[in-house]
Amino acid sequence: MLARLNELEAQALAELAHVSATDALEQWRIAYVGTNGRLKTAMNDLKSVPKESKPAVGKRLNEVKAALDAAFAEKQGSFAAQTHSGPQVDLTEPGSPVGLGRRHVLSRTIDEIIDVFARMGFAVASGPELEDEWHNFNALNIPAGHPARDPRDNFYLAGTWAERLLLRTQTSTVQIRAMESQEPPLKVVATGRVYRPDAHDATHFSMFHQIEGLCIDKNVSMVDLKSALLQFARAYFGADAEVRLRPSFFPFTEPSAEFDMKMRIRGQLQWVELGGCGMVDPNVLHAVGVNPEVWTGYAFGLGIERIAMRRYGIADIRWLFENDARFLRQF
Ligand code: FA5
Repeated sequence: MLARLNELEAQALAELAHVSATDALEQWRIAYVGTNGRLKTAMNDLKSVPKESKPAVGKRLNEVKAALDAAFAEKQGSFAAQTHSGPQVDLTEPGSPVGLGRRHVLSRTIDEIIDVFARMGFAVASGPELEDEWHNFNALNIPAGHPARDPRDNFYLAGTWAERLLLRTQTSTVQIRAMESQEPPLKVVATGRVYRPDAHDATHFSMFHQIEGLCIDKNVSMVDLKSALLQFARAYFGADAEVRLRPSFFPFTEPSAEFDMKMRIRGQLQWVELGGCGMVDPNVLHAVGVNPEVWTGYAFGLGIERIAMRRYGIADIRWLFENDARFLRQF
């Protein structure tokens, strides 16, 4: 029996040495160490071994089993290291770059501007892009029949003639909403999209963004307005920012001014209007139930695209909306 076991071990190991594929390895396993394999048969035969030889034969059986199991495991391990069910991978090959997206330069500009105004003590307010005439016109001292309400200058929604809804043309609507929902004193900025049927050129687009500012308090004057705008310009564009206020007219401010900034457009250094501003007209305060004898305030509304153009040296507003990744990737 011992000789039979020696022969079984030698034969199994010799055959295993020639196994070079996984299916042949499985055949070997079934033949030698499987439930009906030759080792199992030898174990069953232990019963017929004379009692006095049993310990030696049993010990040898265990040794052979351990040797065959170990040899099988080793062979199996070597196959696993070499073979893959999927494609071969070369771990040294350089990877392909992951196309990470980035925030649009306008979103970034909006965050940066809000950051500056937040440091100056302004809270953030917001309002809807689809507006009624009250918030876009009436409450802003733009009465019925005013040329600013002309359908050729506004995007009115078809089928809304009863309540006349339109895409807001300015963020000044949020001045009204803020004063309707909060008691003075208040100091807020609001950013968002506005819409006008303007022809597209280097500084105009039919959808653009504005930032509105409103400060209502006691004894607020034009000096506070000018300081706030100058402080913003210096903080955002640098100490050398060149800005000016130019007398103008808006129905909802009195006096009113345009806020201009010197910037380079297509190689030419020129004054570009960033926005309008002024002292809140008493009629506007009346409309929202704020007593103009007690409260005064200033307001401003700036074009965010033009701010981004000045900040990032963008010469044409249309580039901001073309979604050319080569352009957007620069910021
Ligand atoms: C207004 O919209 C006023 N609501 C601003 C205001 C607010 C005045 C509070 C007083 C008090 P205006 O129409 O000038 O004003 O527009 C403000 C700014 O928006 C412009 O100076 C410009 O920077 C930007 N803007 C206007 N039209 C366009 C356009 N088509 N494309 C890009 N930016 C524009």
